[in-house]
Amino acid sequence: MTRPKIVLTDPVHPEVVRQVLGPRCEVVVATSRTRLMGELKTADALITLLSDSVDESLLRHAPRLRALGNFAVGVNNIDLNACRTRGIRVVNTPGVLTRATAELTIALLFAAARRIPEGDRMCRGGKWKGWAPDQLLGQDLRGRHALIVGRGRIGSEAGRLMQALGLKLEYITRKDTARQVLMKLARAQVLSLHLPLTAETHHWLNRTRISALPEDAIVINTTRGPVIDEKALIQALRSRKIFSAGLDVYEREPRIPLALRKLPQVVLLPHLGSATAETRAAMARLVTTGVLGILGGKRVPNEVEFGV
Ligand code: DGY
Repeated sequence: MTRPKIVLTDPVHPEVVRQVLGPRCEVVVATSRTRLMGELKTADALITLLSDSVDESLLRHAPRLRALGNFAVGVNNIDLNACRTRGIRVVNTPGVLTRATAELTIALLFAAARRIPEGDRMCRGGKWKGWAPDQLLGQDLRGRHALIVGRGRIGSEAGRLMQALGLKLEYITRKDTARQVLMKLARAQVLSLHLPLTAETHHWLNRTRISALPEDAIVINTTRGPVIDEKALIQALRSRKIFSAGLDVYEREPRIPLALRKLPQVVLLPHLGSATAETRAAMARLVTTGVLGILGGKRVPNEVEFGV
């Protein structure tokens, strides 16, 4: 019997791939778009990264494709309509990266509130002249007012961690009117974004909403860059309309605007939300077993629903 062919755009996690897929499938890693298009002609399944765009122009090279696994929980890089039309079932990696991403949210919050990168740069640059009462003063977190946008798995977990630190929590819900959103933003000393990126959430944090934030606000983003209007955020930070930002994601990754990189009070990370060894192994296991399940005609718990 011929083994199904699974194409990966990246080795992802070689050990897990070898264990889960090795005995049952033909596994091909195609890191260039040209090679990928060639390999897809005979592929039964494809495993992609969040940086791979999966759209009609790619899928038309994949006449046999039945399963698509995205090595991420976000699926904004995938044209789900095109998959549905072609009968391709999609899996992602929900749940296993919740805690790691929520912890990174808190790490960014501490780093921004206590100006940790500024202190680190001062020490490394040989600029520290000694202890001073007013040096790099940050903010206490206990008792501050936090607003979480997006009450899914990661938003809820980040909220639990913030609550444990003594922050006072509020969430934005779908029921909030535009006016209620602005009122909540006006109280948000910490604003943490956890919305999936869709056409509706693109630039959710826009100029108007940023200008509703208080002067001591810290904006944290560990979801997807385009949920923030980056230009508007840079302007607010530059003119000190808000205190700081902790960002793990950007509008045009891996490009980070120079204007943002020049702002000393901003903490910048290279999309590390799920980047722990344990989490990446769990993601690899979930996505590979999901894809295998689909190829075997089974129901799988991490299948992405296409909606109606
Ligand atoms: C995801 O899975 O969507 C995360 O952004 C990966 O780090």
